[in-house]
Amino acid sequence: MEIIYSVAELRMRLKQEQSVGFVPTMGNLHAGHIELTRQVRERVSCVVLSIFVNRLQFGPNEDFDKYPRTFLDDCDRCREAGVDIVFAPDEKEMYPVPQDYLVEPPEIQHILDGAVRPGHFRGVATVVLKLFNMVQPHVALFGKKDYQQCRVLSNMVRQFNLPVEMILAETVRAADGLALSSRNGYLTAAERSEAPQLFAALNRVKSALLAGESDLAAIERRTVNELSSRGWRPDYISIRRQSDLLAPQHGDRDLVVLAAARLGTTRLIDNLEVSL
Ligand code: PAF
Repeated sequence: MEIIYSVAELRMRLKQEQSVGFVPTMGNLHAGHIELTRQVRERVSCVVLSIFVNRLQFGPNEDFDKYPRTFLDDCDRCREAGVDIVFAPDEKEMYPVPQDYLVEPPEIQHILDGAVRPGHFRGVATVVLKLFNMVQPHVALFGKKDYQQCRVLSNMVRQFNLPVEMILAETVRAADGLALSSRNGYLTAAERSEAPQLFAALNRVKSALLAGESDLAAIERRTVNELSSRGWRPDYISIRRQSDLLAPQHGDRDLVVLAAARLGTTRLIDNLEVSL
């Protein structure tokens, strides 16, 4: 496995490859990231995983400084998983001058997580477009745990005709249902045992929808109250349609329940698709 820090070196190295599969990450790798590399391994001659904690997608009061940086362990995991190249640009390589050309996603960037984290999806879309230009992958993989991110980026790829196939992979969960996330490491032991309740709440919403309950606002309110009574501070529990994350219209059958809630100082997100 090679570790490459510069765009120039990466481009030289990738010239010899027939096909490149790409997993962009911010490091602190877990089984979810490794699963993405596994899914693309058979399809390409070279698997590239990038590690870059992207300041542009963090708000001023968010966890950019304390975001876990575990580069050496991450490289070990990549080596074991058969990743060919870890691309690890530093901030000067990624942003040699202030990034004032930005990808401005449409309205979807302002709803749900975007309403709580203004500018987040602009930062994500901008860095992913840059990474795509640096790596020029044939296939790129993202986890559905970041459902809104998947929608924003798939739309960007379509609207800018980027020559990359997007694969959106199922969320990898711990045995108790908690979606794997780098931020789970912030949880205390007591919070960690409570954390699977977020997925349990999503499952209750799914059951209610499948049972034919049709007052979506009432289901959302009830679920917010259930979590709040257990000590969570939900940002939203929202039933949307999968295609554009807008409120379902009569007859929409492919839905997704999205949740973001704080437990102590940790903010967790999760979602569950429901097809009626
Ligand atoms: O999902 C992430 O880890 C990040 O948002 C991404 C896609 C690597 C962009 O920084």
